[in-house]
Amino acid sequence: MSLFNAHSNESNPIIPVVTIDGPSGVGKGTLAQYLTCKTGFHLLDSGAIYRALAYGAVQNSLDGTNLPGLVNLALNLPVEFMSTSILYNGVDVTASVRTEEVAAVASTLAAIPEVRSALLARQKAFAQAPGLIADGRDMGTVVFPDAPVKLYLTASAEIRAQRRVNQLKNQGLNANIRKITQDIQERDERDSNRVAAPLKPAQDAVVLDTTHLSIEDVCQQAMSLLWQKGLIK
Ligand code: DC
Repeated sequence: MSLFNAHSNESNPIIPVVTIDGPSGVGKGTLAQYLTCKTGFHLLDSGAIYRALAYGAVQNSLDGTNLPGLVNLALNLPVEFMSTSILYNGVDVTASVRTEEVAAVASTLAAIPEVRSALLARQKAFAQAPGLIADGRDMGTVVFPDAPVKLYLTASAEIRAQRRVNQLKNQGLNANIRKITQDIQERDERDSNRVAAPLKPAQDAVVLDTTHLSIEDVCQQAMSLLWQKGLIK
């Protein structure tokens, strides 16, 4: 498939952006990687930025009460993305930032409006030619409100927990379904009920409930949408 059409977005008038928002474990990451491969667009995994911030905050003993420290860290976050790896201060921290513990801290820090504002410019800067696939919670509502294609994935907490358990089992790791379901529900609650950029579909987003869909079906539906919107042919 090749690109033949560019649409506008707020940060750059000629860069096409596809936003993928939704709760934890809904398949956004897999879809984002698939679309990145198919389109040759850049990828923004905004959750990884929030996780790197959480990782750095723990390393520097910064908690939610140290607002200046957190904002300073967010503005100068020493994170880099190399293929599928996340580097913090040049060190590969991919496995450390993917833990449930770091995710819980990320979700707490992500509720602080000043922290979100401090990370905004960095996220917008990912919109580079030939285009961007942006994965997160507020990609379509706040970071790229003018994106021509907005997807919002949803699925029940139980099915998302089951998928996570399968993933961990495939990696040879133990998983407690009850604990994972509870973690997911708590994170949903925090991400959806915060005042700053809460998790919700943009008004013009296409909502896909993936509870009974395979990842292949989700990818196919997303590709059809990109085609209908003229981003691929
Ligand atoms: O997508 P993820 O699970 O890696 O995200 C980790 C946490 O970061 C998530 O619980 C909420 C927060 N987050 C956010 O608030 N806004 C984003 N655009 C991405 C993630």
